[in-house]
Amino acid sequence: HRHLLGIAGLSPADISHLLAAAEDAVALNRQVEKKRATLRGRTQINLFFENSTRTQSSFEIAGKRLGADVMNMSVGNSSMKKGETVLDTAATLNAMRPDVIVVRHHAAGAVALLAQKVDCSVVNAGDGAHEHPTQALLDALTIKRAKGGIHGLVVAICGDVLHSRVARSNILLLNALGAEVRVIAPSTLLPVGIERMGVKVFRTMSEGLAGADVVMMLRLQLERMNGSFVPSVKEYFAHFGLDAVKLAYAAPDAVVMHPGPMNRGVEIASEVADGPRSLIRDQVEMGVAVRMAVLETLAQHLPDA
Ligand code: CP
Repeated sequence: HRHLLGIAGLSPADISHLLAAAEDAVALNRQVEKKRATLRGRTQINLFFENSTRTQSSFEIAGKRLGADVMNMSVGNSSMKKGETVLDTAATLNAMRPDVIVVRHHAAGAVALLAQKVDCSVVNAGDGAHEHPTQALLDALTIKRAKGGIHGLVVAICGDVLHSRVARSNILLLNALGAEVRVIAPSTLLPVGIERMGVKVFRTMSEGLAGADVVMMLRLQLERMNGSFVPSVKEYFAHFGLDAVKLAYAAPDAVVMHPGPMNRGVEIASEVADGPRSLIRDQVEMGVAVRMAVLETLAQHLPDA
């Protein structure tokens, strides 16, 4: 593969290879000396058209730990403000001969389109409600380390599935590795035909969480609900917010995940987010390792520096 545009393009063997490479990176990241020279001489551009805390900073740290020169393109200060298009911006950056461009964009499909216009590798760091492949990989690594494997686990993905690229990428990956995937949401926050992705659909937390091994909460993406149905936050939390009472429906050793950014008191209570079963900080740690694995794997398919 030259690009990583989604989990949809990966085989179970590709996923397992990336997770194994990420395990190596976890060990490296826990050492005092954290650098490798795998990407020395290579140039990485992070091009984020949407806000990010975790993804952008971890891609920057990942590239630097591997010895790459990393440039964070400041889209807000760029000539896009003067009317330059996404594709002209990409072509301009491409002329500077980067080896990899990491892209986040609010439109589904924009990253794949951009990948057709440049000579280097492209990594999708989230495109609209389509895919966020490195998030699904870091979630899988977190689950694997906590539970010893993924095959046969019951994973409940809860909340705003409609707007969630994280949910889509996780459904594809967890199904590929043999988990039972459930989604729990009000009908207004479920995409039409979601069953065709191979998930069981539940409309109450008590039914959907029953016996779940992993409870994955999603942020209510209020910014993507302009003009459409916007739930009352108080009512939403009462029915779909994860607190200790609802977590008790899941398996006794269930773990809790959230990709971040969290809306405390909207989709998750602090008692759970900061509680002993929360893996939210582990997810962030695994994010750096997974992004190192992705960058290294793509670099193996680039010409030698
Ligand atoms: N989970 C995630 O993608 O977080 P950021 O939006 O902060 O990158």
